Amino acid sequence: MTRKAYGLLNTQPHPQPEPVPFVQPKTEQINSGLDHRHLLGLSDYSSREIELILETARQFRDVLNRPIKRVPTLRGVTVVNLFFEASTRTRISFELAEKRLSADTVNFSASGSSVSKGESLKDTAQNIEAMKIDMVVLRHQSPGASHFLTQCVDSIVINAGDGAHEHPTQALLDMLTLSDHFDVFKGLNVSIIGDITHSRVARSNIHGLLTLGANVTICGPRPLIPIELDRISSKGSLRVTHSLESALEGCDVAMALRIQMQRQGQNLFPSVREYHTQFGIQMDHLNRYKDLIVMHPGPVNRGVELASEVVDHERAVILNQVTNGVAVRMAVLYLLSGQNSTE
Ligand code: CP
Repeated sequence: MTRKAYGLLNTQPHPQPEPVPFVQPKTEQINSGLDHRHLLGLSDYSSREIELILETARQFRDVLNRPIKRVPTLRGVTVVNLFFEASTRTRISFELAEKRLSADTVNFSASGSSVSKGESLKDTAQNIEAMKIDMVVLRHQSPGASHFLTQCVDSIVINAGDGAHEHPTQALLDMLTLSDHFDVFKGLNVSIIGDITHSRVARSNIHGLLTLGANVTICGPRPLIPIELDRISSKGSLRVTHSLESALEGCDVAMALRIQMQRQGQNLFPSVREYHTQFGIQMDHLNRYKDLIVMHPGPVNRGVELASEVVDHERAVILNQVTNGVAVRMAVLYLLSGQNSTE
């Protein structure tokens, strides 16, 4: 796989251009816009749409590297971040993206709201929408919650993770990070390791990576791998293995997934220690597979999915993923907002 000419980790500081107060991404491709009104998942997003989001994110990333990191692109647009589940990265990243775009933002947490008095998602959302909002970013524990929300409100809906279904902006930021290290997605070998069955990150990455032509291997203990792979995707090259060595051999990128500790005791794997021995990425793997890049969506259980030294290794790009999350979310908000409409 062809790596970027500037090396594995681009540690050079980005050149700081003169501050420009207002930048509008401006390619012909961008003007053609997205085919979707919402971002609920990547299963039905085309390669053109995904590439468009990534290219737009690259342009916003340039804005984020300037001394003044703010553009007036979404001035007058109101976005509500509706989080029914815990989040650090996604929530802060969306909020920063909205502020960088000059949108008006409101944050909602289920705890401390009228949800604790029994109010439903539909009633909560419709009451918030009655206050004149434009976009909703939803994280919810139930798969399909963001699809349901599109039937309750007129606002544009962005899925920030719905149960074990999809987490599309996570996969997009993962793909942006991959594109920093590899010239093309076609033929890229990506292994996703861990609890595939319960992972929305895995699902969105499988859809997105296969759409862009990557080869995806999924790896984990048998109870954590879906039996019917074709129910996830039948688009391209999707392989399954229960051997970490087989997953890492010839692999360009290992994407480790968080083991959901609450599933301990459900007989899905014998113990955390045994999981680490069989499926945890260790320094020995980095020493043997010299070009391997390691990713993780976070939060990481150090010493479980990844040895602690691996988390801190220069070939682990976990914090680069987080950095790219803001630019990707700016791109998604911008493209879905219709602010680029030529009408
Ligand atoms: N990757 C991710 O979704 O992290 P958070 O749960 O902290 O948002």
